[in-house]
Amino acid sequence: MSDTFPPSAEMAANAHVDAAKYDQMYAASIADPEAFWGEHGKRIDWMTPYTQVKDVSYDFGNVGINWYADGTLNVSANCVDRHLATRGDQTAIIWEPDSPTDPSLHITYNQLSASVNKMANVLKDLGVGKGDRVVIYMPMIPEAAYAMLASARIGAIHSIVFAGFSPEALAARVQGSEAKVVITADEAPRGGRNTPLKANADKALATCDASVQCLVVRRTGGEVAWDDARDRDYNALSAAASDVCAPEEMNAEDPLFILYTSGSTGMPKGVVHSTGGYIVYASMTHEIVFDYKDGDIFWCTADVGWVTGHSYIVYGPLANGATTLMFEGVPTYPDASRFWQVCEEHKVNQFYTAPTALRALMGQGNSFVEKCDLSSLRLLGTVGEPINPEAWNWYNEIVGGGRCPIVDTWWQTETGGHLMTPLPGAHAMKPGSAMKPFFGIEPVVLEPTTGAEIEGNDVEGVLCIKDSWPGQMRTVWGDHERFEKTYFSDYKGYYFTGDGCKRDADGDYWITGRVDDVINVSGHRMGTAEVESALVAHPKVAESAVVGYPHDIKGQGIYCYVTLMGGEEPSEELRKELRTWVRTEIGPIASPDLIQWAPGLPKTRSGKIMRRILRKIAENDYGALGDTSTLADPSVVDDLIDNRMNR
Ligand code: WT7
Repeated sequence: MSDTFPPSAEMAANAHVDAAKYDQMYAASIADPEAFWGEHGKRIDWMTPYTQVKDVSYDFGNVGINWYADGTLNVSANCVDRHLATRGDQTAIIWEPDSPTDPSLHITYNQLSASVNKMANVLKDLGVGKGDRVVIYMPMIPEAAYAMLASARIGAIHSIVFAGFSPEALAARVQGSEAKVVITADEAPRGGRNTPLKANADKALATCDASVQCLVVRRTGGEVAWDDARDRDYNALSAAASDVCAPEEMNAEDPLFILYTSGSTGMPKGVVHSTGGYIVYASMTHEIVFDYKDGDIFWCTADVGWVTGHSYIVYGPLANGATTLMFEGVPTYPDASRFWQVCEEHKVNQFYTAPTALRALMGQGNSFVEKCDLSSLRLLGTVGEPINPEAWNWYNEIVGGGRCPIVDTWWQTETGGHLMTPLPGAHAMKPGSAMKPFFGIEPVVLEPTTGAEIEGNDVEGVLCIKDSWPGQMRTVWGDHERFEKTYFSDYKGYYFTGDGCKRDADGDYWITGRVDDVINVSGHRMGTAEVESALVAHPKVAESAVVGYPHDIKGQGIYCYVTLMGGEEPSEELRKELRTWVRTEIGPIASPDLIQWAPGLPKTRSGKIMRRILRKIAENDYGALGDTSTLADPSVVDDLIDNRMNR
């Protein structure tokens, strides 16, 4: 039996949802999803109220997901306009810059409204309209949130590309979504260094359609190249723009945004989220999971380039009229107390971060935390990967002072919001467990090969979800077939998450990690196929296979087996060259941690690489290689084991 941490009496008494209410609401959500979501959809302001709630088919070949399909609304009106009468002067966004000596900003809802309306008018003037795509490649500055809300306001579909991605990755996403405009900034300061975003965008746009315009926000004032035919000065245009722009009336099922994410095969896929269902789900999970109350200061440390930033920096909090903190920097700059200094300075109440950041900070010692006053904290959260008990205990004791519940939220880019997590006032937490499904979520554990549902407790298998929820992705941009194939074909009639899980003796859920060829590096999802195709694009590389291996800080590191072209010699220099190559092809987050030269790869007689074996070798676990008799040439395995120190 693992340690359990029941909610404090105070939390249980004051939280939005206590144990009895969870049981009652969960049961109601499963018994009658129509009634449940029909009721909770009302938390959003609709222009035309919906009369239909749920219309969903998970049938392979005919998958269609619709929520509130006859309702109309505008997400920016829900995140901005509807708060103006009651909280126009309340802070909507606290912006904390990269450098602690630069001033932070407090942006009120009134100010947010003016900026969003202006940017909406700027985009309109650039010819952007309903249904057009806008790519956002930005630092973590308020203008990134304005850009999202301005797109939503005029009915354009935004696609954010994380500022750490390379020009090549940016270009692929601009082309993939056929965007009309790319919004960027001169430079992105992070950890005291400036990434040249505009220069990256220039490189990317050189390979895109000439009609794509580039709207440039001034952040550092750094020197940038300028192409009068294509580049537009945001600061000048928005100063001249009107701060009134009527919100477009959108159908609930119109796409709100696209977000590219890695899969187990090929190019990243454009996950498409809807307008109505998404905003209902993001706002409800934000309020209930974080026990957000009026006046609280909420801080999610993610970047808006990831879904966490979409749902829990911008859309969920702002739909709830919250004060959301947006941080431009990194946890270790200028030193390892930065997170805690920001918590102290802005009196943060809910703090939400990734296990990888906690592990890195934990290694620096407790003094960085202990010198800060963290008495404002009431709740902590984690996301992105399983949290190891050591990091959980450190978070609980050293950061939370033993007083704050920790919500370990399991979800995915595809799910729009949390699917499983303990609720702070309802559930006794277990370190490392995502615990319980959120309302409306029916997790099932399947036998991996037969796909049969495994009933009962103390069981392990593949995690699928039985029925839809409003925040679910609707399709893969431009490729509905890929959507069906990825999520609805292996286990018919269910949504396949790609994760494995355990349901323990108490019926609580533990995520055990991906069961597909996706790895999780510092909470970022990486398709091994993507790294492989970057490697084989190098002229000296004949073949490669990439797997994850356990890494103390990152959770998983990137382990690359590389077979060189005939006549090429392995060298330290070439290793460095390949690392740089992958960084330029994809971005620094895809940097190989270990490269092992592999004269041959273990393949079946039909030529399929046996990754299971490569994973074991990368984990230093050769006792458990399993059956190697189907290999075309079993001797390559011995060779890889003998040479694994050479990496
Ligand atoms: C994958 C999704 C959801 C926002 C961040 C990542 C893993 C996510 C947890 C957690 C264990 C987790 C899963 C999932 N994951 N949260 N609390 N415990 N694993 O979004 O990039 O779409 O990655 O992250 O493997 O499938 P993403």
